Amino acid sequence: MLKIVFATQNPNKLQEIKAMLPDGIELKGLDHLGLNDDIPETQNTLEKNALQKARFVYERFKVNCFADDTGLEVEALNGRPGVHSARFAGEGKNNNANMDKLLDELKNSGNRRARFRTVIALIIDGEELLFNGIAEGEIINEKRGKEGFGYDPIFVPKGYTETYAQMPLKEKNRISHRFKATKMLADYLMSLNYF
Ligand code: IMP
Repeated sequence: MLKIVFATQNPNKLQEIKAMLPDGIELKGLDHLGLNDDIPETQNTLEKNALQKARFVYERFKVNCFADDTGLEVEALNGRPGVHSARFAGEGKNNNANMDKLLDELKNSGNRRARFRTVIALIIDGEELLFNGIAEGEIINEKRGKEGFGYDPIFVPKGYTETYAQMPLKEKNRISHRFKATKMLADYLMSLNYF
């Protein structure tokens, strides 16, 4: 059995990733370590933020752990909002305001290409690895659907006609950026000699 800590304060994410990992991996949240403070996330790339969070936990507790960071990268905006996705329209982390700002910035743009990218930083026995899950798609002109969160109502993944927010969560979770990064993490963990 491999015990590993997911450096997140978000119980929904912990549940989501737990469901994607194989049985032989015992996944714990930060509450398991008695850590209830927010972990610093002050870097300017997804990779650096994910590593910052994983290192924070590893350096204090010397446990195998991983952390993630996600952003929406819009081609016509040179990759913005990217690492600033949560606070694109301000500190309030307001999903509607973020989407409105994005739609406004793209209103005259013919190029609607965008991608979600999740980076997972893993530290295992002191070794650092990065996994990169990408979901390509496009930003439509209006919000559609009620499922999911964040920018889901304006993002249509490549090969689909519905937004992430119009899909049952189960379907989104089979094709999403976070799923792809988690799958890479799970495959890597399964390839180790713990089992
Ligand atoms: P986090 O790194 O997972 O906290 O994601 C940062 C921000 O990216 C979130 O606050 C959302 O605005 C956006 N985001 C991340 N994942 C998704 C998703 O699956 N759908 C829509 N927006 C997302």
